[in-house]
Formats: sequence, structure tokens, C-alpha cells
Amino acid sequence: MGSSAPEPLLVMRGIVKQFPGVRALDGVDLDVRPGEVHCLLGQNGAGKSTLIKVLAGAHQPDAGEIVFAGAPVRLAGPTAAMRAGIATIYQELDLVDGLSVAENIFLGHEKATFGFTRRGDAERSARELLGRLGHAEIPPRREVGRLPAAGKQVVSMARALSHDARLIVMDEPSAALAHDEVDNLFRIIRELTGAGVAVVYISHRLEEIRQIGDRVTVLKDGRAVAAGLPARTTSTGEIVSLMTGRDVEYVFPERSEEPRGDRPEILRVESLTLPGSFEDVSFTVRAGEIVGLAGLVGSGRSEILETVYGARRPARGRVLVDGRPVRPGDTGAAVRRGMGMAPEERKSQALLPAGTVAANISVAGLSRYASFGWLSRRRELADVRRQIEALDIRPPDPGRPVVTLSGGNQQKVVLARWLLGTAELRLLILDEPTRGVDVGARAELYALIRGLAGRGIGVLLVSSEVPEVLGLADRVLVVREGRVVHTGAARDLDEAAVLNMIMEGSAL
Ligand SMILES: Nc1ncnc2c1ncn2[C@@H]1O[C@H](COP(=O)(O)OP(=O)(O)OP(=O)(O)O)[C@@H](O)[C@H]1O
Ligand SMILES: [Mg+2]
Repeated sequence: MGSSAPEPLLVMRGIVKQFPGVRALDGVDLDVRPGEVHCLLGQNGAGKSTLIKVLAGAHQPDAGEIVFAGAPVRLAGPTAAMRAGIATIYQELDLVDGLSVAENIFLGHEKATFGFTRRGDAERSARELLGRLGHAEIPPRREVGRLPAAGKQVVSMARALSHDARLIVMDEPSAALAHDEVDNLFRIIRELTGAGVAVVYISHRLEEIRQIGDRVTVLKDGRAVAAGLPARTTSTGEIVSLMTGRDVEYVFPERSEEPRGDRPEILRVESLTLPGSFEDVSFTVRAGEIVGLAGLVGSGRSEILETVYGARRPARGRVLVDGRPVRPGDTGAAVRRGMGMAPEERKSQALLPAGTVAANISVAGLSRYASFGWLSRRRELADVRRQIEALDIRPPDPGRPVVTLSGGNQQKVVLARWLLGTAELRLLILDEPTRGVDVGARAELYALIRGLAGRGIGVLLVSSEVPEVLGLADRVLVVREGRVVHTGAARDLDEAAVLNMIMEGSAL
């Protein structure tokens, strides 16, 4: 016997996938063992999602072979992949908003046609699966479209479990989750792998790799540049330089140390209350200041941003810009007063899916470009190209349809739009600005946000990553169960202190 590795469950060899103008996969190899968590890493656009779509039967490869459980397989479509025992949780969750939780879980399921004679059976099974995932509180009859992002994630996971898969592929499952939710996800993953199920795990949060991963494969430009490295002993620096081909300093830009107390107040929020979400929230953002909100998903942090921006109507309280009240519950009024917002669910809320990269980047600045005709079109394109380069959007082609970009690159497009900044922009609101963005591009993003503040714009942001809030913000508001429980300078706080305040008293 000796120490020979177990037979792999999955072997992919020489997988090639060509899209018009892009070779997304250029001969990728991957092998996955039963019961392991195999992390798939790589920069935005490296080919991770394309590889797992091949595995899910959603894309047909142009070349290469797949051996699953010892036998060559052809995954002609999603059903074939599921039958083979491969379940996938996609980056852009493929749930149907108008259907119920239970219907989504068993959508396209054999059981949906044969096994369940009554809806009650499906709902009972759904309840059982949700319970196994630690989310018995999600009602099987609830419309999926009405669940928060973390809830949708759980439904997607329940669907994967419902297939008794031998391999579960998760494309950035933690991107929409906060700390406690991630712990729950990891508990589920450990249960699965303990039972011999293999997990392919994609994430841009490198610290997770060390917590949950067994081995790591790194993709770069459609090739595996490292395969099956041990997850716990390979250094972050090594992984990052494999991903990027260079050494990236994972640092935050310098804060300017001058006191901001004398700067004019851009935003003032007074006793803002949205029943069921948050209560009596007051704070200010001064010119050139970055204020960060830290809190769990569900703590009310995103709702606070949305209410400031007028996307929700508060029951009480006021929002003032430059000392004058803004009409509540009216995003048009917010925009006219100089607010801009990159929302949390960027795909559904902020992307023009039919547009090109250029159209999506320049849309916020339309008023600026509109009146000057041809000359300004040239300037517009120059601005767009500058943003593409600054954020390393790939491929760097302004004319490309935005939907053909990888998930992370689509995120960058939406952010580029706001980071371009308009002459009228006074306050920029960012919900999870780096979600899905790779480590290489994050530093650039931080610098751009800091640069906007340097121009006197106020920034209000939410991030689930506490180090990001601490590194980027001047001032931090800790939100717990709809209340601001702490306000203070970022430099006086550390991660442990903030996590403590975030979690204290929360039902974990
Ligand atoms: N349907 C498509 N049509 C054309 N090009 C595509 C399509 N899907 C993906 N691509 C291209 O293939 C390449 C790989 O994309 P993929 O989505 O696999 O990246 P990724 O590694 O998952 O990145 P991210 O971390 O941003 O999610 C990118 O250059 C992308 O633009
Ligand atoms: Mg992807």
C-alpha cells in the first residue's frame, strides 16, 4: 500500500474552449480526489468559470477528455452532468426568481416528474435539505426573488445536495456571504467531504483557501500554471505570483493624516429609521472622507446605504447633502444632488446587459458627454480606455458585449463607471466594491477609491471583509442588528475588535 494517493474521482485532460476572439481554456488539466476540497484559483478572466461550465455540461469543450469515477464521460448537457453525479453552484446563481424555494430546488429534477406526486412532498424534502444546511427558517413556499443574496445561495446549495452528487462545484460561493455565513458553508463542506464527496471550490478570498482547501490548482490565461499544490503549506505570496505572474503587494493606499474635522460636511444622516431593517442611524461623511460600514449580512448595512441613496423610503429621519435635505425614497433626487451608487447585486441592478463595455462604463457620465458631439465622444472613449487599463479589465476591448466578460470583469466595469467620477459627483456609495475582484486588481481599486476621496468626494462603503473596511476607511461604523454600535477612527481599531463588536450578541 504505502502512501500512494487515492484514485482520482475526476480527471480532466487538455481541455480547450475557444470563444470568438478568446481562447478561454488552452489545454487545462485538473484532477480531483474523492473527499477533498480542491481550490481553483486565478485572476478575473483566467478561465475558472469556463472550466467548471465544461464540467457542468453547460459548455462543450473543443478538445480534451474527462474521466469521472474511472470511466470516460461525455457531458453533453446539464442533465448528463447531474446524472453522472456532478452538481454545480454557479457564480451568477441560476435560480428562477418567480418560482418558490422548493420549486427551484427540484427544478429539472427527475423526482419533480416521477417521485413527487404532491407538492407537499417536495416542500417537505426542501425543508429537510434547508434544515441540513442550518437554514430551517427559509420557507419552502417563499418566492426566491424575495430572498436576500445569502438565502439564494442556500437554495442553490440545497439544490446541489438534492442530487446526491459525488462532486460539487462551487463558483465563488462565499462572495455573497459574511463571516457567520461562511462558517456555516464550511461546516457543510466538511460534512460533505467527510462523507467522501469531492468539492471544487473557487474563491478570490485567499485566506479561505487555507481554512478549507486541501489542494490548489492555479489557472492563468486558460492554462494550469500549478496543479495540486498543498493548500495549507503553499504561501499566499507564492499563490499570488502564480496567479498574476508578478509580485503583488496586497496593501492599502496611505491615508492622508490631516484631520478632517474642518472639511465641509457632504452627507448628514439624522435618526434614519427603516422598521425591520435599522433604527435611529445618524452619521456624517465629510469631503474627502471614506466612511466604512462593518456588519453581518442582515445587520442592516446594505439597507442603510440603499435608504441614503433613496432606493428605500425611511419611516423616520433625514438625509442631507451639503446641508440641504434630500427628498426621501427618490433615487432621481439623490443623483441630482450628486450621489452615485454601485449596488451589491451589480449584475441585476447596475449592468446594462445588452450594452458594450464602453457603454456600461460611460453611462454615468452621459450628461457630461452628451452635449458636445463628436469631440466629446473621443474624450469619452479615452476615459473608458483609461478605466479599462487602470482596473485591468480583460479583454481590454471597449466594444465587447459586457455579458461575455468573466464575472469579476463585469464587476470591474460597473465600478469603473462610478470611479470615473463625474463633475457633479459629491458622494459615492459602494456596496461590496471588491466582491469577485481578484487580488491583483484590488490594489488598483483601492487606489482609485482613495483618489476620488483625494478630489474631495465623500465615500460611503460596505464590505464584508473587515480588513478592507479598516484598510480603506478613515472612519468605521459598526452595525449590529440595525443599530450603529460603534463609530470611530479606523486607525484605532483592529480586526479582532471589530469582529467582536459585529458578532456580540448575534445568534450564532
Ligand atoms: N460566453 C462567452 N463568450 C465569449 N467570451 C467568453 C464567454 N464566457 C467567457 N468568456 C471569456 O473567457 C475568458 C474566461 O472567462 P471565465 O468566466 O472563465 O473567467 P473566470 O476565471 O471565471 O474569472 P472571474 O474570476 O472574473 O469569474 C474571459 O476572457 C471571458 O471574457
Ligand atoms: Mg468566474
